[in-house]
Amino acid sequence: MRKGYFVFIGNSHCAVPALYIYTPVTEMKYFRKLFYLILFVSILLTACSSESPVVVDSPPVFSTSELSGGETTIFDASSHAFSIPAPNLSEAALEKHLEGDVEFEAVFVTAPAVINPGLGPIYNNVSCINCHSRDGRGRPPVADEGLVSLLFRLSLPKTEDAMDGKPPIPVPGFGTQLNNRAIINANPEGKVKIDYTEQTLTTEDGTRVHLRYPDYTLTETYQPLPEAVEVSPRVAPAVFGLGLLEAIPEDVILAYADETDTDGDGISGKPNFVWDVVQQRYTLGRFGWKANQPTLLQQVAAAYNDDMGITTSLFMTENSAGQPQLTGHSATPEVSDEILDVVTFYVQTLAVPARRNVDDPEVKQGEQLFAEAQCASCHVPTLRTGVLAGVPSVSHQTIHPYTDLLLHDMGPGLADNRPDFHASGTEWRTPPLWGIGLVQRVNGHTNFLHDGRARDLMEAILWHGGEAEASRKVVEQMSKAERDALIAFLESL
Ligand code: HEC
Ligand code: HEC
Repeated sequence: MRKGYFVFIGNSHCAVPALYIYTPVTEMKYFRKLFYLILFVSILLTACSSESPVVVDSPPVFSTSELSGGETTIFDASSHAFSIPAPNLSEAALEKHLEGDVEFEAVFVTAPAVINPGLGPIYNNVSCINCHSRDGRGRPPVADEGLVSLLFRLSLPKTEDAMDGKPPIPVPGFGTQLNNRAIINANPEGKVKIDYTEQTLTTEDGTRVHLRYPDYTLTETYQPLPEAVEVSPRVAPAVFGLGLLEAIPEDVILAYADETDTDGDGISGKPNFVWDVVQQRYTLGRFGWKANQPTLLQQVAAAYNDDMGITTSLFMTENSAGQPQLTGHSATPEVSDEILDVVTFYVQTLAVPARRNVDDPEVKQGEQLFAEAQCASCHVPTLRTGVLAGVPSVSHQTIHPYTDLLLHDMGPGLADNRPDFHASGTEWRTPPLWGIGLVQRVNGHTNFLHDGRARDLMEAILWHGGEAEASRKVVEQMSKAERDALIAFLESL
């Protein structure tokens, strides 16, 4: 005797086509088939659930005019949107990118081990991807969760000229970064306690917005910290599209600089010049929240060294300079030049997700308001790349990063009061806004700004002060509908 079943599966988010299972119930092997079928269907349903961070979407409508990353743009708005190789890579380049991907995800352990040794002695995390989750951005810890993707840079105040353009002065016993984890027999340098105080801001139309002011206290330090220590909290930024930013010619960036505000718009824009360890001279800074790294190669080598305690040919001394008994200088780097090269290539060649809903009238209105509020003076919508040696896919591209890569005074509210080369204690590099509307989907949170204090895009905007004070005031004076349109525009990026 044969029996058949109709199975209808669906919920409010998606529908799976009806299945007809035709099965003789008497035979056990069909039960096994049914079991696998149910398993398959439940996986499909999990993917459909709105709670799950892995979202399978119906393809959104893209406008071909909105190729945020030029030919490196990818049409994917899923939770993998930041992790896709640029579509214009050659076959050989794609292979190199994928090798870099493996290394970006590699979990390091203590020496001697066969695979990925060299972790520590002190460190913040064990792999790149642990901080740059899904190639996206980190966040501050919630409740009593430890530090994962938020780190703290340290330094001593400069005695003479705080703005001498020199690197930050290391804190004896700690160096320039708090390493909150350590291998066995080494001391973690300390922990950080974060307290937030809420303050309410009322916009012109009476809408109340709560901003949380962070207060950081370094605790359980393995030895006392000097009273005057400067502390700069920094959350891991997303790592896609970076080869394009590296390929923007220096003179293009410098053309946007207006240090003395000669045009009188209240917005200056200043380049950082930082020490390039390969060229052994000061060059334009582009990466990091204060444009404190000149190249992706150096940024990646610094990440291995400072964040994971791993030496490379660029930084041969262990980061534990702080703890004298641990100070070491490798004879051979713990990560080879080949690995350093493929990881650098990996972050140079991650695709930029395309914009969505560009023809939506609300999004268009928001784009207009973005321009009217002078947001675009710093978050520059369109730039053209030059040539990045060895990376043709990012060369000669018209891109829409919404950054000028310059430093701006953002006022006392956002200040870390820790100068970094030419960046003062109140200055930050304009972060790119591309992909910002996908952070929720990729990373499951909406924490923005250098330390993740903003809990959504509107809070991030309302933190703007200093050179961006006038912009923020325009937003405060907008109607609710206008503010919604501005956010709709940001979410389309
Ligand atoms: C402990 C967390 C952590 C780990 C581990 C880590 N990073 Fe980062 N990464 C950060 C933070 C925080 C910043 C911003 C640093 C700053 O502003 O000075 C950053 C910045 C970057 C940037 C520059 C991004 C930009 O937009 O300017 C790149 C590229 C990068 N990291 C790559 C890597 C790679 C490759 C690895 C592994 C070798 C790695 N990171 C490991 C936290 C981490
Ligand atoms: C004077 C330059 C300047 C202007 C004008 C400006 N911004 Fe920004 N913006 C910045 C800088 C610098 C930051 C980073 C500040 C920080 O992290 O502390 C930032 C951060 C942001 C962020 C968070 C980005 C992230 O990755 O966390 C958003 C969103 C944003 N700006 C939107 C806007 C909007 C909308 C406007 C107009 C109303 C605007 N900005 C005007 C310089 C500017």
